[in-house]
Amino acid sequence: MPKNWKTKLIHSDVHAPDGFQSLATPVYRGSTALFPNAAAVNDTWDQYEAGYTYGLYGTPTVLELAGRICELEHGYRTLVTPGGQAAISLINFAFLKAGDHVLLPESVYSPSRRFASHVLRRFGVDVTLYRPTIGQAVEEAQQSGVPKAEGIQSLFRPNTKLVWCESPGSITMEVQDVPAIVRAAHEAGALVALDNTWAAGIYFDAFAHEVDITMQALTKYVGGHSDLLLGSITVRDEGLYKRLGSTHQLVGCAASPDDCSLALRGMKTLGLRLKHIEESALLISQWLTQRSEIELVLHPALASCPGHEIWKRDFSGSSGVFSIVFGQKFTKKQVLAFVDALELFEIGYSWAGVTSLAVAYDFGGNPARPNYGHRIVRLSIGLEEMGDLKADLQQALQQMSSQS
Ligand SMILES: Cc1ncc(COP(=O)(O)O)c(C=O)c1O
Repeated sequence: MPKNWKTKLIHSDVHAPDGFQSLATPVYRGSTALFPNAAAVNDTWDQYEAGYTYGLYGTPTVLELAGRICELEHGYRTLVTPGGQAAISLINFAFLKAGDHVLLPESVYSPSRRFASHVLRRFGVDVTLYRPTIGQAVEEAQQSGVPKAEGIQSLFRPNTKLVWCESPGSITMEVQDVPAIVRAAHEAGALVALDNTWAAGIYFDAFAHEVDITMQALTKYVGGHSDLLLGSITVRDEGLYKRLGSTHQLVGCAASPDDCSLALRGMKTLGLRLKHIEESALLISQWLTQRSEIELVLHPALASCPGHEIWKRDFSGSSGVFSIVFGQKFTKKQVLAFVDALELFEIGYSWAGVTSLAVAYDFGGNPARPNYGHRIVRLSIGLEEMGDLKADLQQALQQMSSQS
């Protein structure tokens, strides 16, 4: 059929030659996925089962990233979300309903806690916060015969459906006894979801420890360059995948193929970046333990971090985020002056990029967090030369001490 040039703009007869083999995954953008005939049209969300039906459920770029995260985490299947927080809310939407009860550690990423205490409570879900180190009590209870009620078991109710873990916890860095919590949760018929972002889904093998659902903010180590927002959810089995996938369809939180392509590129250097960052962060945190200004270095690989023994038992490495707690004598003004004096460490949220970051927090008046008050600063170590970062910290410590 002859075509007008304007029609040809849309229905062209041009075909680029086939056969280009790229090392990069092509960026497939698209809302519409074409069907071969009228009868083939369907809206099944599971693209592994039905083939491609709609861009919302993933283009090949999105599914390639999902598959690669799943492969690294040893899960059954992975879904990609537009950010880490979207992954957290989707897990809650998929596995909770009105009348259920959910448990979260006090050290959980604060928007995750606020989602529970604001949105979930509004939808009729009961929320209880638990001490992040409570699982260790479970372990001790099981070994020593102490009544189980001293551990997390006392928090379970007949309607407890989900237990969240985040190990180590945000900012205060408590390493959780995830295997003990999993055992207690499974005995009580509850699922366990883990925020495995700090370990990049690698340094803690969640499914080997029988966690049911993991999520990561791919925004962090997988992206690795502070230029994208993405999340992932990985599940242990098909039943969980079906439940999650059908909710993902209805919540409609599709990930951008462009961002997924950046994450796929980020993954290729993840091993090298993690290795460099791990080494730098360890050396810097060890050096910081010797500074008189600092009372505590909260790095899971150091004995001073709550849960360090569990990190040694369960993790295969450490990443680059840790916190320091200044001595009692330092005022909030001095702590802020320390952060302001840093020249290489930038000030900003998110972490795990190539640029080192520092943020001061204030837990004063929060009985649910350790008593660090205004004295805690979280550091994210990037790819700068370790000696330069140390020199930067040293000059900032000196400037802080000279402030009155
Ligand atoms: C531990 C943790 N989980 C989840 C998130 C949320 O990720 P995103 O910023 O991609 O929404 C963050 C972000 O800082 C985080 O630190």
